[in-house]
Amino acid sequence: MTSGHENVTTPGADAARVPAQPEEPARTFDIDAVMLRLTLAQKCSLLTGRDKWHTQDIPELGVPSIRLSDGPNGLRIEGGPDGTDASCPLPATAFPTESALANSFDTELLRDVGRAIGEEARDAGVDVVLGPGVNMKRSPLGGRNFEYLSEDPLLAGKLAAAYIKGVQSCGVGTSLKHFACNSQEHARMTSDSVVDDRALFEYYLRAFEIAIREGRPWTVMPAYNRLDGVYCCENERLLSGIARGTWGFDGLFVSDWCGQSSNTSSLPAGLDLVMPGPRPDYRRDVEKAVRAGTIDERLVDDAAQRVLQLVDSCLAGRRTRISADMREHLDLARQAAQESTVLLENDGLLPLPDRASVALIGEYCRTPHTSGLGSSEVNAAVRDCAYDAFSELRCSSEDDTTSTGSVLYARGYVAADGSTSEVLLQQAELAARRQDVAVVFVGLTPHAESEGYDRLDLRLPAGHDELVERACAANPDTVVVLQCGGPVEMPWRDKPRAIVLQGLAGCQSGAAIANVLSGRAYPGGRLAETWPQTLSDTFLAGRFPDTHRRVVYDESMFVGYRYYDSVGADVAYPFGHGLSYSTFRYDRLRLETVGGQARPDAFDEDDLSWLRRNEIVTSWDESGDTDEDGPSFGAPVRVEEESRGPGAAAAVPRARFEGDVRRLAVTIDVTNTGSRRASEVVQLYVAPIEPGMYCPVQELEGFAKLDLDPGQTEPVRIELSRRAFVPADDFAARCA
Ligand code: BGC
Repeated sequence: MTSGHENVTTPGADAARVPAQPEEPARTFDIDAVMLRLTLAQKCSLLTGRDKWHTQDIPELGVPSIRLSDGPNGLRIEGGPDGTDASCPLPATAFPTESALANSFDTELLRDVGRAIGEEARDAGVDVVLGPGVNMKRSPLGGRNFEYLSEDPLLAGKLAAAYIKGVQSCGVGTSLKHFACNSQEHARMTSDSVVDDRALFEYYLRAFEIAIREGRPWTVMPAYNRLDGVYCCENERLLSGIARGTWGFDGLFVSDWCGQSSNTSSLPAGLDLVMPGPRPDYRRDVEKAVRAGTIDERLVDDAAQRVLQLVDSCLAGRRTRISADMREHLDLARQAAQESTVLLENDGLLPLPDRASVALIGEYCRTPHTSGLGSSEVNAAVRDCAYDAFSELRCSSEDDTTSTGSVLYARGYVAADGSTSEVLLQQAELAARRQDVAVVFVGLTPHAESEGYDRLDLRLPAGHDELVERACAANPDTVVVLQCGGPVEMPWRDKPRAIVLQGLAGCQSGAAIANVLSGRAYPGGRLAETWPQTLSDTFLAGRFPDTHRRVVYDESMFVGYRYYDSVGADVAYPFGHGLSYSTFRYDRLRLETVGGQARPDAFDEDDLSWLRRNEIVTSWDESGDTDEDGPSFGAPVRVEEESRGPGAAAAVPRARFEGDVRRLAVTIDVTNTGSRRASEVVQLYVAPIEPGMYCPVQELEGFAKLDLDPGQTEPVRIELSRRAFVPADDFAARCA
């Protein structure tokens, strides 16, 4: 629905290209003919990698190997002569991490980012990008949360599906990961996620289901951990039952790197490809088991055929002539960062007053914190910084009303470890005092968020907290910019006049934040994750990561806002929150059944007096479903104006529907009532009317984003699936 991004160019967009690989002749081959000629040993050889990143080739039968490489927020291609030198990744465009991109609530943006990554993959000779990740964020301490999209499965699933379509439109495959319930990094290769079926299907698997059904990824990557006692790579219920059987997944399962443990159980469970290679032991053991009759050869045939099918798709993909325009990708990276920026607080200081002099404080102004560590870390071809971007704005022409006044920089802390000193703090105070506005950049340290370990707490480095306090005391007109991939505690939250969450914003974070703060662009984000006030407010406080082998998910599906809303906990910023530089009005809500008929008198669409800003508007007519007119459904509509926040539930006139209602379409007119172009995110939540049901108080079931000029009105239409109307206690129907 979006994005009429502001037309702002990227300063210094002098990008290096990803070096193009020698052109390989695009071929496809007759899979059936190859299958007939393969020996058992050759078939088994196809089931493991040739090396760390390539599948096995069989030159005598014309089967080439394909190359896999990490994503998901940009290509991470290992370099060196044999392409496996992790210390020397090739340059690529670093987009905002998934945790940031999800704040955009923008499927079109995710598709565009996916397409750009697909283009770079094609240029670099990569056939499959390992991403996106859609695991739910069970605790804000999860080490890889920055690599995952959201705490909400609908949002994560829809955004992932869009990203997958974008990458795959370039003839490059994706790998949806990490399947499933990979919630903590501690003991990630051995821990056992013990999850009840309600939570599993309605919460933890739902994003995978949506992404698989709608995005159709070429591959899915089973996770390292166990699920209910069985390693995901050997989990027949998960792989063959749920994904292939129920959801119809017809692609290939590739193990997470070194995640496959039993040479004889994973193939029968449904795993097709074991990575990385070479794994002569695996080939030998599978071949032996087939000869001994303990593994059915048909399973080897099926898996080998899927590998060939993937190779064939990649070869066909190579025929699409695509080339990456790195300059365009930098512009997209900047737009993505702007669209993902969340305005958490603003009492009117932002956008900055024209020509205000600015103190830029904190070393992240110069060396921005833009990504977590691990396999998703991209070697950015070009990286900008806020200091340069602000300086460039300052040099803007005289008639540009959004140029800033003088810019002063104070380091404030040491970026590498977040430490500060009295001297650095005093310099920062001085700079803050001298300028009209102080903009303080703080965030987690570069090592705080990573694959392989979890965060210890939600605190910023002590030096960053102190820096904010001192800057606010020196200059009340202070803006705080947060660079982190997940929530942090903010003991100073009521002091700055504005707080902006930039997240881990990728290689154009500098231009993006300068544009947003100065008003050249608008902050387009809404939180895809709840921000609790403190760690102790989280359900798992004190027991995450779980150090037991069996990690029992005893909170069931009450995770994120499903938990906070259900217990009525105060949070710092709720899921979906995000302010705007403009204001919006919602009018003329109308409902339309798709596949049934609405009774004309059912809903008074002109009576919107019950819609108040930030109110939760619920309805779920449980009682009416035996109505003589047939099934009756409530209208579960929640309408947001500027931000979501706790509010009273309001009774909604119930709409009644007749016949076999498959879907309900909700349309509402949204008007930009302010004086600036801005984007709005409409969010629809469903909730049971009857109290006491064992289910979350409300759940996101639809969203749409749109950009509007001042005075412009656009209708927004969101279709709710039948699933949104199945009573929460009808578990079987919800999973169908
Ligand atoms: C990570 C995956 C990644 C793979 C290849 C693993 O350690 O869990 O996400 O795709 O390595 O780098």
